[in-house]
Amino acid sequence: MTDARSAAWDAYSQSKPQRRQTNAKGENTWFNWTQYADHGPGAELLALNPGDTALDLGCGAGGNLAHLATLGVKAVGVDISAKQLDKARERWPDVDGMELHQGEALAYLGETFTVFDAMFSVFGVAWFTDPALLLPVVHATLRPGGVFAFSQRPPVEGCYGCQASYIPRGPDEDPAIVKRWDYRPDTWCSLLKGYGFPEVTATVLLAPEQDKRTTGTLLVRAVRGDHAHPL
Ligand SMILES: C[S@@+](CC[C@H](N)C(=O)[O-])C[C@H]1O[C@@H](n2cnc3c(N)ncnc32)[C@H](O)[C@@H]1O
Repeated sequence: MTDARSAAWDAYSQSKPQRRQTNAKGENTWFNWTQYADHGPGAELLALNPGDTALDLGCGAGGNLAHLATLGVKAVGVDISAKQLDKARERWPDVDGMELHQGEALAYLGETFTVFDAMFSVFGVAWFTDPALLLPVVHATLRPGGVFAFSQRPPVEGCYGCQASYIPRGPDEDPAIVKRWDYRPDTWCSLLKGYGFPEVTATVLLAPEQDKRTTGTLLVRAVRGDHAHPL
């Protein structure tokens, strides 16, 4: 199962170009929560300080991690796709403070001894993992008061819970299929509160006005409560 998923994400990796060299402000690194360039909030959502440790769940080619590393954060990424991590190493060869792990995120979270100051997922593991499995282990490995934030496409009205995502492959191949979990913002708030994140906001950021595309971005930010949560 993990092999099929890593092959699916390796296929996805080949269809995606590397991040641009600079953004519209001329910066070499930046944080992007949305599917649109130069759009949306930045790393401030994570409330990190230099010296803190953050985990990117499904870091892909590492652009957001590289930015956190330049802010003095120990920037750890986990990704199931070796090809995605190859792209991260190729694009960010000289960034100190970036640490990449290949593997399935739930397995990584189950084995790590690190307690993270923040965790995040940008169209990543929080979208492609059953929240009933992910939220307890995120809670267990995030420090009390730490931020867990993630972004993804908003749900299609009426299509909630586990959905199929199709990743195109070659012209003579079936697409790869991975599962994703879609919920309305208010459902995410209830779910996270139930798993020990008492402070949650979930909103849909609108697409930029100048873009022909109209799909917004679901952005969820939760703060871990003080109490241990039974796994
Ligand atoms: C749509 S890409 C987003 C990548 C990156 N966060 C970005 O913003 O460009 C989804 C990423 O999540 C990774 N991923 C999906 N399921 C995973 C899992 N269970 N464990 C670890 N990584 C996973 C994929 O390999 C892929 O790199």
